[in-house]
Amino acid sequence: MAAVAVAGLAPAARRRRSRTGLLLVCLGLCLGFTLAVDRSNFKTCEESSFCKRQRSVRPGNSPYRALLDSLQIGPDALTVHIINDVTKVLLVLELQGLQKNMTRMRIDELEPRRPRYRVPDVLVADPPTARLSVSGRDDNSVELTVAEGPYKIILTARPFRLDLLEDRSLLLSVNARGLLHFEHQRTPRVSFSDKVSVTLGSIWDKIKNLLFRQGSKDPAEGDGAQPEETPGDGGKPEEIQSEKDEPGAWEETFKTHSDSKPYGPTSVGLDFSLPGMEHVYGIPEHADSFRLKVTEGADPYRLYNLDVFQYELHNFMALYGSVPVLLAHSAHRDLGIFWLNAAETWVDISSNTAGKTLFGKMLDYLQGSGETPQTDVRWMSESGIVDVFLMLGPSVSDVFRQYASLTGTQAFPPLFSLGYHQSRWNYRDEADVLEVNQGFDDHNMPCDVIWLDIEHADGKRYFTWDPSRFPHPLNMLDQLASKRRKLVTIVDPHIKVDSGYRVHEELRNLGLYVKTRDGSDYEGWCWPGAAGYPDFTNPQMRAWWANMFSFDNYEGSNSNLHVWNDMNEPSVFNGPEVTMLKDARHYGGWEHRDVHNIYGLYVQMATADGLVKRSGGKERPFVLSRAFFAGSQRYGAVWTGDNTAEWDHLKITIPMCLSLALVGLSFCGADVGGFFKNPEPELLVRWYQMGAYQPFFRAHAHIDTGRREPWLLSSQYRDAIRDALGQRYSLLPFWYTLFYQAHREGIPVMRPLWMLYPQDVTTFSIDDQFLLGDALLVHPVSDSGAHGVQVYLPGQGEVWYEAQSYQKYHGPQTLYLPVTLSSIPVFQRGGTIVPRWMRVRRSSDCMKDDPITLFVALSPQGTAQGELFIDDGHTFNYDTHHSFLLRRFSFSGNTLVSSSADPTGHFETPIWIERIVIMGAGKPAAVVLQTEGSPESRLSFQHDPETSVLILRKPGVNVASDWNIHLR
Ligand code: NOJ
Repeated sequence: MAAVAVAGLAPAARRRRSRTGLLLVCLGLCLGFTLAVDRSNFKTCEESSFCKRQRSVRPGNSPYRALLDSLQIGPDALTVHIINDVTKVLLVLELQGLQKNMTRMRIDELEPRRPRYRVPDVLVADPPTARLSVSGRDDNSVELTVAEGPYKIILTARPFRLDLLEDRSLLLSVNARGLLHFEHQRTPRVSFSDKVSVTLGSIWDKIKNLLFRQGSKDPAEGDGAQPEETPGDGGKPEEIQSEKDEPGAWEETFKTHSDSKPYGPTSVGLDFSLPGMEHVYGIPEHADSFRLKVTEGADPYRLYNLDVFQYELHNFMALYGSVPVLLAHSAHRDLGIFWLNAAETWVDISSNTAGKTLFGKMLDYLQGSGETPQTDVRWMSESGIVDVFLMLGPSVSDVFRQYASLTGTQAFPPLFSLGYHQSRWNYRDEADVLEVNQGFDDHNMPCDVIWLDIEHADGKRYFTWDPSRFPHPLNMLDQLASKRRKLVTIVDPHIKVDSGYRVHEELRNLGLYVKTRDGSDYEGWCWPGAAGYPDFTNPQMRAWWANMFSFDNYEGSNSNLHVWNDMNEPSVFNGPEVTMLKDARHYGGWEHRDVHNIYGLYVQMATADGLVKRSGGKERPFVLSRAFFAGSQRYGAVWTGDNTAEWDHLKITIPMCLSLALVGLSFCGADVGGFFKNPEPELLVRWYQMGAYQPFFRAHAHIDTGRREPWLLSSQYRDAIRDALGQRYSLLPFWYTLFYQAHREGIPVMRPLWMLYPQDVTTFSIDDQFLLGDALLVHPVSDSGAHGVQVYLPGQGEVWYEAQSYQKYHGPQTLYLPVTLSSIPVFQRGGTIVPRWMRVRRSSDCMKDDPITLFVALSPQGTAQGELFIDDGHTFNYDTHHSFLLRRFSFSGNTLVSSSADPTGHFETPIWIERIVIMGAGKPAAVVLQTEGSPESRLSFQHDPETSVLILRKPGVNVASDWNIHLR
């Protein structure tokens, strides 16, 4: 949460007044004032000068022209110059065909005054290219063929435009609306006195560069580059004189904050047209519907990592994280656009069918008067270059794989982290933690992790412990470990300015803090008061930070302790929009403006590296982060920040986590119960039921809220929560397998229905139900006093079994399902097999060797399939030593077969199959088990003719072995 009341103070008075402001806000929270987001603390597009300038460019004739004579084709890329016919400034377009049906295009200035930031560390590798060749040409265009690709690219010279076609049908166009707008860097126009100071200033800048220059690598890759200005103007001075500067172009103020903009206007913008597409998704994080809306008449969707105090629902305001990836879906095709830029970004969406009813569209179609539906997307970023990946599907799973090949897949989480997490701001002291720990046992509820928020540290000095409240952390950790539970502590990336604090002293002495424009350490206000902000964009800083997690450096920690990175947008209470000044300086001389959205990713990256290193490279880390960017999925989990204990906030968790899942971040959750305010018991129960079926399952609450450990509720609510926890724990083998698959293949764990039913338009706008893998459909209850829910069961010829009653339903249908306080409407799809642990124990670690029950839901054809992944649950041995089992179960022709789905894996385990529940089965005369090397044996079974459920008892086979079971 942010103390926004202190944002926007004048620099001179900042320190004193922000302290007072901070106190007032804290007091406000403690007294329980009702606070809502103060929108005036955050910019609108009008107030963000580059957004306003970009948006003022109207569709129409683009001034940009490709100079076809300059076209060059190399083995990996094509380059061509683009001229702006008004300013005469030259840009260079670099176009690459990529393997796996992707295209990358980059646009930069041909002769920039200063290199522009190219985002490093997001791509896992240089994407393998597919050769482009010219297959046709006329005066105004060139046709390009991509080796092995099914598509062609037409490059049109005047106005500049790219069209991607497959089999003569247009997939996507670039700059079709003429909205390319590239602000080239210019010499500031200054008065004589300013000129003297600018000259002196640049001399001083040069001296500083020499003094403070940090080791740099390849300027083209951004991270190590020292952006040097080239003397004079990269463009043509005469023309530049004619350019008119909008207010805010060379210096921008917001409230009392001023952004000095030493390099002037540098924004980039471009449009993409998607013919045939009416449904677009992605570009998280926004608290809004899953399907994106058109932004005409509103602000664009904003991507700028921000700590928004008491965020509101259903608007396009930026939140804590940003992933600049948009997915377009139609019944016939899926496409993705990945705009790799870490600066403040806005995205406009328009559509030629927006506002038309389905009936209207049908009428158009019948009368032949309707245009092809089309969505147009316009991206606008404050700095950097245009660097775009066009991921051409054709299916949504292809788009997922394409994106995963670029940015990596979800880190495979340790098993414990898929269990339940109990958090609040704050557990008071060691005794409190141990009582909560005991509470779970006393009330027979499973829990894997207890969390400590900022109050556990000594005066918000992270990596330390409050000596009076947490004098014996190792003892506390041992006690948790004896119950096979873990601890998570918060470690925020703002460091108290205190000469007695080792972390601060070292960072200051090593020069590893973010700097102001003048080269001194940047200081802002956050929880500890005055704080320095480590420059995580610097690899040396990340290595230093990672090292802090060694057991020697982080005293009082051990391998049972895992980490939470909060406030890493970064949150700066007295900064503009509660974050860092854009002209602050980072490693390599880059401005904060350039790197803002990737800062949080680097924090989580360094922390995760630290946890891996402290174990000698053996253990899989668990790190939760509030801020994120493209690629963050490689480092751990994320959550949706400071929500509120209200029904609508419960509802929004589905579209928010689905949007994250689509762009690679599968490990998502929301504070169960709501962070602000006190949930009524019914809401709390419904939230546990929702959380039990969402990937990251943690209850958390603001310091000012009442205690809400589940046993504090009266018995009917407590029992319902115990049930929800039980359902989570029994499905852990399923969750774990889904995460393994997500890690291996880049396919999300939590999925929209249209992923499985791409042609069913009814599924395209569903926000209140989702799939887990391809097996479970969940429709949580999110209305107060609900007696039933309307569930949509998709799929022509599909059958669905209600998970508790085994009642069978046919798809597609909308079903009214009555519910009680303890119901969680979950359906298993016919054709799937789901593994479960049926004995719920204290924690996942206590259950990890328990026998498995297989739930086989038969399709109408009498078939089903499923997988089960097993390893030690916490090390990298599955990868480094192939110590794992991936089992495949498949049912057809009345036979269930267990075989290895990946023979490269081996793992010894005591886990055996204790029961098999087959839904949709007739009664067999006999059931026979065959295992290799043993004689056939008969299994006892029980059949319920009413539900058509057949239960096979005690097959007793080890999960690692191959076997068949025949129903005769
Ligand atoms: C803001 C986080 O979003 C919240 O979860 C946490 O409790 C507070 N910071 C205090 O650390």
